[in-house]
Amino acid sequence: MYNDETIENTEVVIQLRTFAEEAKKKLAEAKDIKSLEEIRVQFLGKNGDITNILKQLGSIEADIRPKIGKITNDIRNALSSTIDQKKEELESKDESNLPLGWDPTLPGRQQLVGKMHPLTRVQQEICDIFKSFGFDQVEGPDVETDYYNFKGLNFPEDHPARDAHDTFYLDGGLLLRTHTTTLQVHVLEKHRPPLKVVAPGKVYRNEAVDATHHHIFHQVDGFLVAEGVHFGNLKGILDNWVKKFFGSKVETRFRPSFFPFTEPSAEVDISCVFCQGKGCRICKQSGWVEIMGCGMIHPAVLENCKVDPEKWSGFAFGMGVERVAMFKYDIDDIRLFYQNDLRFLKQI
Ligand code: DAH
Repeated sequence: MYNDETIENTEVVIQLRTFAEEAKKKLAEAKDIKSLEEIRVQFLGKNGDITNILKQLGSIEADIRPKIGKITNDIRNALSSTIDQKKEELESKDESNLPLGWDPTLPGRQQLVGKMHPLTRVQQEICDIFKSFGFDQVEGPDVETDYYNFKGLNFPEDHPARDAHDTFYLDGGLLLRTHTTTLQVHVLEKHRPPLKVVAPGKVYRNEAVDATHHHIFHQVDGFLVAEGVHFGNLKGILDNWVKKFFGSKVETRFRPSFFPFTEPSAEVDISCVFCQGKGCRICKQSGWVEIMGCGMIHPAVLENCKVDPEKWSGFAFGMGVERVAMFKYDIDDIRLFYQNDLRFLKQI
């Protein structure tokens, strides 16, 4: 019978232990991947010392073969994983393994974080203030009929007020809306007063593009209909909005104007935020800048929407998002908003 001791003393095992010792020593001295490979070949390669012993196992006495087989495999596996581990260590230290041209001393590459387009942000800021006054936000279609863009808003067929609203016409009597005032008719047709809404969106005009005009731009309209609404309410709301949006020291001024869908109508000017009303390049030395149109909703518009003008009254206002943004951020060319130039977009 063989016990562990006698097995340890067999020639094969003594031989195996010697190889293992030798391999261990060589591994400790190995300084590069090439010498690791040489060790692997010497002991574990096709004709390697340990491989050769494995090959001879068949000729070993049957009753000790399994034990010797196990010792051989254990030594082989241990050696193989030590070589792998050492290889990993060497590779992580070896700079020649880094991708070609990689210089660890270079500063990191900055990842750009996207943000909202300035127009989207300004549009949201405008609406958020009105929403804080209790207004609801609504949106409507860009493609409209003549009725919602003009007739419903009291623009007669051949009225000169249409001249400022030349647009793009589509088949079937449809057109691209020239203002978001269309929402007055949409909302008042479907919902009964009292109500107050703001309506942001894209609008279109058949205009030549220059520093202050574009064929697509954005507007925010708003209106309030209730019982006993008067011009003082309109002034109060807009003055409050101006102070929240531009700053508490900014003054408002209302100048008579004309829109077919309001009566009376006015333009709202604010004191120039750049010179505090003293006069500068931006306000063209006047101290004032025009920022929106407004007025009391014309009774004809209410009637068109089956709202009784004897009982209900309301005010409305409308402003250009680009115009307001240009004034707030001192931007002198509307085209900058649409050119996708990050040098511009990043500044706002
Ligand atoms: N819709 C007008 C325009 O595009 C602006 C406007 C003026 C809207 C007065 C209003 C308003 O709601 O009351 O020129």
